[in-house]
Amino acid sequence: MSATGPAQSINEDKMNAFLGKVVGDFGASLSSALVYIGQKLGLYKALSDAGPVTPAELAEHTNTNERYVREWLINQAAGGYVEYDPESGRYSLTPEQAVALTDEQSPFYVGGGFFVIKAMTSAVERIEDHFRKGGGMLWGEHDPDLFIGTEKFFRPGYSAHLVATWIPSLTGIEEKLNTGGNVADIGCGHGASTIIMARAFPNSRFWGFDNHEESIRHAREAAAAAGISDRVTFEVAEARNFPGENYTMVCFFDCLHDMGDPVGAARRAAAVLAKGGSALIVEPMAGNTVEENFNPIGRTFAAASTLCCTSNSLALDGPALGALASEDAIREKVLAGGFKHFRRATQTPFNRVFEARC
Ligand SMILES: C[S@@+](CC[C@H](N)C(=O)[O-])C[C@H]1O[C@@H](n2cnc3c(N)ncnc32)[C@H](O)[C@@H]1O
Repeated sequence: MSATGPAQSINEDKMNAFLGKVVGDFGASLSSALVYIGQKLGLYKALSDAGPVTPAELAEHTNTNERYVREWLINQAAGGYVEYDPESGRYSLTPEQAVALTDEQSPFYVGGGFFVIKAMTSAVERIEDHFRKGGGMLWGEHDPDLFIGTEKFFRPGYSAHLVATWIPSLTGIEEKLNTGGNVADIGCGHGASTIIMARAFPNSRFWGFDNHEESIRHAREAAAAAGISDRVTFEVAEARNFPGENYTMVCFFDCLHDMGDPVGAARRAAAVLAKGGSALIVEPMAGNTVEENFNPIGRTFAAASTLCCTSNSLALDGPALGALASEDAIREKVLAGGFKHFRRATQTPFNRVFEARC
């Protein structure tokens, strides 16, 4: 027995397999910074528009430095994010790569995730400090790319599912919104979900509330750009005392688990819902047991939760439900807020969709 514990024999195959995995993670982690740069500088867009190009041509199209672009392209081709033709020395995107990396309106768009990764990883020293001392980091204290990236990351899923399947999965809500109802979107961030719903239900009225002032400013601009400011109002407000009453639906998109007081938020939602109204609670996909999260999605959400979601709640002395909160944990908070019924209405590979009713 050594000072570090019992001596264990190393299985060479298992060691090689583990090291191979780690090297893959080295490449993936560093490459995420390069994908971010590609998004910011329009490198993918230029590749998509221009067709097969040499590094010099791509640099010229994007007004960037050829030497950096050449290195960037090797990284991208090695990672399978772009294609390379050794004969011509040209790089290109497949249709699938082009859609996923450039088309922000597509449900397959993944670019936003790299803004989120850049912002969250830049908080690492602060979070390390909270590991030692407790406490946490508020949402609004993060690098602003977190707010931009969150909208870009979640919007494709909301565009694909919110109107088509999530709202129809609730009890009688779609009919009410078609006729004309009132909707509150709590923790609305940049307002992507609010605006998608407002466009789909022109007879209804929408309010987006968030306690992050900068996000509300952005959401107002987005509503004005969409030409729907007459039916959509964005206001800075806390989840536990947002204004209004008689709402047909109160929504929480990927935010209840972040909150310092999720029970208070649920209590306010229950108090302001009209008779027969529903709370729509969308949460990241997660298992009911720890080990059900041992997959790429669980790994990603657990990391985001450590760097951001759990930390926001801990900064407020909250229960820190975390992005992987089990269905039971969410149900408990929602019922503690005064709701009588709670069920999983539907789900996607990335989201659980819950309905709560009084
Ligand atoms: C992960 S973001 C989700 C944003 C948006 N719902 C979306 O899906 O794109 C969480 C949001 O909840 C907001 N939030 C957290 N706690 C809040 C509270 N107590 N009251 C109001 N908003 C809150 C944050 O400011 C942030 O905009």
